[in-house]
Amino acid sequence: MQGRIAVRPYRGAVMGQIIIKRGDITKEDVDAIVNAANTGLKGGGGVDGAIHRSAGPSVMEECRGIGGCETGEAVITTAGNLLARNIIHTPGPVWYGGHSGESGLLRNCYINSFKCAIENGSRTIAFTAISTGIYGFPVEEATRIALEEGIKHRGDFDRIVYVCFSARDLDVYQKIYEELTK
Ligand code: APR
Repeated sequence: MQGRIAVRPYRGAVMGQIIIKRGDITKEDVDAIVNAANTGLKGGGGVDGAIHRSAGPSVMEECRGIGGCETGEAVITTAGNLLARNIIHTPGPVWYGGHSGESGLLRNCYINSFKCAIENGSRTIAFTAISTGIYGFPVEEATRIALEEGIKHRGDFDRIVYVCFSARDLDVYQKIYEELTK
């Protein structure tokens, strides 16, 4: 495992941990990983491509069957060859400068992913930094939204993991987590 890990227990040692780590989300052993998808659920580059490559073709077949997903909504599939049980696919917003409802749409990604996970009995969930790659959403603002929703939902899960791809993202997540919980 790379990077540092921040673990904050919440109301006891097991329930409601928020874990911030550097790593590869395709390797996470959780009930559900959340994929930064596109509205066509057609796969692509970035983390979406990495997840589909590791999961294998059955997941793409399921995505084809679902047909698509609106920005900010979330759909669930099995996880093929991954350790995770399910993949929740949520298309984040493309960043157009911040005046096109991007923040609300990104918040919906987290809210609807958590809702989808709860409905499907997930107790552990891992997120990537939705919209902050190809879609260009500023990392600090996206991280604040991601962590605010995680803090709100921590009582519903045993473990919420934020998997950062870069050392810089890890620093931002840790800094904003400290700010939000001090
Ligand atoms: N493994 C893990 N994380 C990755 C990888 C990877 N191989 N590649 C990128 N990431 C990280 C990025 O560093 C960023 O923190 O995933 C986060 C989200 O970036 P993107 O994957 O670019 O997702 P997004 O900005 O939401 O753009 C979505 O990209 O792949 C396409 O089909 C996807 O069209 C959609 C768009």
